[in-house]
Amino acid sequence: MDSAVIHDTDFAASALEGLQSSPKWLDSKWLYDAQGSAIFEQITQLPEYYPTRTETRILKEQISALTDVLEPGTVLVELGSGASVKTRILLDAADKLKAYVPVDISADFLEETAEGLRDAYPETPIRPVVGDFTQDITLPAALDAEPKTAFFPGSTIGNLPHDTAAAMLDRLRHWPSIEALILGLDLVKDTTTLVAAYDDAAGVTADFNLNLLRRMNREIGADFDLSAFRHEARWNAELSRIEMHLVSQRSQTVTVAGQPIRFAEGESIHTENSRKYTREAFAAIADRGGWEIADFLTDTGQLFAVAVLRPKRA
Ligand code: AVJ
Repeated sequence: MDSAVIHDTDFAASALEGLQSSPKWLDSKWLYDAQGSAIFEQITQLPEYYPTRTETRILKEQISALTDVLEPGTVLVELGSGASVKTRILLDAADKLKAYVPVDISADFLEETAEGLRDAYPETPIRPVVGDFTQDITLPAALDAEPKTAFFPGSTIGNLPHDTAAAMLDRLRHWPSIEALILGLDLVKDTTTLVAAYDDAAGVTADFNLNLLRRMNREIGADFDLSAFRHEARWNAELSRIEMHLVSQRSQTVTVAGQPIRFAEGESIHTENSRKYTREAFAAIADRGGWEIADFLTDTGQLFAVAVLRPKRA
């Protein structure tokens, strides 16, 4: 157990910081280990989880609205590229891109994805960059003078704390030769639809959330009894976000990285936020980051949006 603690000091320190706070929380980035990422892939296929398929449909059906920001000679930079599935819709439509630069924190995954893309798009230079897009990332200097379009799909912006999201938009705005940002965002809608998307009938999202406890047991010597916690998805109307929680079913004490963590019955660990936007709320955030909305593509049900942003003119 002790060696696991030594090898995972970041995770252990972060988990203890959250679990020793009141209310208790865990950083949502820890949800995405290999197992969590695989469960998330299952989530994207669920009937209740509309975001992935809706965003994909918007991109496919309205791709002609994006050709302006994918002109020949453009460098397409994707933030948090993962398997680059949605990117292929853009790469299929773009003509003679200068390069495609997928940015991801997972180096292994990134190389694998890059290989697949090189096979599929032999004409397009693929230049992967390992980096955390919520921090400063370094793009290949040789591309400094080339016009750039950034792509940030999946409404991942909605998982970031407000300040982190704002800082990120502002940093992107200052990239050399940045000309546009294509960004996916989930829209406010009725509470039933929202909660169902994060608490599906098959229990896949519950498994995704509970995997965090399994991961702490595995990696930082915790002894969570998974049957003593229940997944909950809550709509926080005031902050316009879905919150995921793990609710203790009884009063209990759990050991995490050698420290006792006490839970009252009904006490929760807050594990993720997923912010939902109105066009107006998003425009205000974009504006503060130095961007204006050039185009706002939505599906007929107004479930999801793909915003095309341009640097604000002074
Ligand atoms: C990875 C940000 C797209 O917030 O909808 C899905 C994460 N969490 N179900 C989202 C998630 C639970 C997801 N994103």
